[in-house]
Amino acid sequence: MAKRKIAKKAPAKGKVKAKAAAKPAKGKAPKVVAKSAKKPALKVVAKAAPKAPKISKKPFGQDGKALDGVKILDFTHVQSGPTCTQLLAWFGADVIKVERPGQGDITRGQLQDVPGADSLYFTMLNHNKRSITLDSKSQQGMNVLERLVKTCDVLVENFAPGALDRMGLTWERIHSWNPRMIVASVKGFGPGPYEDCKVYENVAQCAGGSASTTGFHDGIPLVTGAQIGDSGTGLHLALGIVSALYQRNRTGRGQKVLCAMQDGVLNLCRVKLRDQQRLAHGPLKEYTQFGQGIPFGEATPRAGNDSGGGQPGVILKCKGWETDPNAYIYFITQAPVWEKICDLIGEPEWKTHPDFAKPPARLPRLKQIFERIEQWTMTLSKFDVMNACNELDIPVGPILSMKELAEEPSLRETGTVVEVDHPTRGKYLSVGNPIKLSDSVTEVARSPLLGEHTDEILSKVLKFTPRQIAEIKASGATGEAPKAQAAE
Ligand code: COA
Repeated sequence: MAKRKIAKKAPAKGKVKAKAAAKPAKGKAPKVVAKSAKKPALKVVAKAAPKAPKISKKPFGQDGKALDGVKILDFTHVQSGPTCTQLLAWFGADVIKVERPGQGDITRGQLQDVPGADSLYFTMLNHNKRSITLDSKSQQGMNVLERLVKTCDVLVENFAPGALDRMGLTWERIHSWNPRMIVASVKGFGPGPYEDCKVYENVAQCAGGSASTTGFHDGIPLVTGAQIGDSGTGLHLALGIVSALYQRNRTGRGQKVLCAMQDGVLNLCRVKLRDQQRLAHGPLKEYTQFGQGIPFGEATPRAGNDSGGGQPGVILKCKGWETDPNAYIYFITQAPVWEKICDLIGEPEWKTHPDFAKPPARLPRLKQIFERIEQWTMTLSKFDVMNACNELDIPVGPILSMKELAEEPSLRETGTVVEVDHPTRGKYLSVGNPIKLSDSVTEVARSPLLGEHTDEILSKVLKFTPRQIAEIKASGATGEAPKAQAAE
């Protein structure tokens, strides 16, 4: 974001325009002021109101990007932090990823499928960024970092607790270099007994309440495939950063933004904390175990595939389930469409039968009801069930495999699934920006090679002279270290 001078004292809300309108231009007769002062206040305000913005003449989505001008010092690695900075890059921020010389983000080499090429783990989380290699623990590296801090708007990091301080990048130091700098961090836990712990995805899922509420009530806790600890926290952090940027427009000051993975997961498990409190007032009647007569304990139990919204729902077999592991559909017996469900499955008498007509009567009989619905779903493919139900506004969800999602044309059309070309690995599929802005359309650009933009950033962004760049490089700070230093 372009730096601008901040008024010494922020004017009171809503007063800027009125003041400017009332102030006479230099040298003009005060008569004008007197005249306008006599006019009703409303009219003055109307006069000063900003003009409606003109409709852009540029093609759709090509009139700049939402975060144009925002510079991000991206000190993130693995998944949580990179998810956040990738989102910011998709919205147009200039994201400069600082990586350790020689190795870079550890995920470059993790789960490699193409020998010698950056892994999909890395490429799918680092689109639209530039990469500079820098040893932050060397003097020259720190000099470059200082300039990066002074140039950028936001520093994003997800190092282990204390690592940034150990590097010498304390909040006080960063703030003294650039008081406008926003420092955004992902940590495993917030302040408290576990704040010093290193945390990965599944640890967060377990510590944030997801695992204890996922799985079947008679089975062990389960983690989910959705990366709610890593990617979920990255999403939370991105919102924190954009909010801090917005607040900075008013205060002129940067601030710290912290997202603890435990907090992020708990936020996503909000409905389970809801149920924890409902337990004090009796059993959770919409849970399958209620219908099965299984008593509730002290904590929110695992609810299998029950719906979190209170409407009974389960996963049912569809035609082909014997050989296709994803021939299933999620079926919700939503009260308003109950009569349509009865007709569809061939049980019209259930519409009026006292055991089935009303939701409370159905609750203890859900097993029987879903078994009957499944007899019907098993006669059709999951897509045919979906089509038949959608026509009647009955909410269902086919269990889509990753293969089906990768091949789904509508997701390609919206840019939610994109094909990206990469110089060392060739073409691959990725998930594009799931957040669609009409004026800031995302083009997904490939992830950078390690240190691909080191020279460009040193010269064009940080304005080091050719001699200074030569000195920085000779010191080994960007990677071409003499052997003794590289062995560190
Ligand atoms: N130059 C020099 N040193 C660098 C560097 C660079 N460019 N980039 C990183 N380092 C150093 C760090 O300073 C740190 O050194 P220190 O231990 O001497 O302080 C070291 O590399 C390792 O960093 P760390 O973050 O501890 O990595 P790790 O691999 O040991 O731990 C995590 C990985 C993810 C567990 C840990 O970073 C963490 O808990 N992060 C917060 C939670 C989180 O985001 N977890 C999810 C990840 S998807």
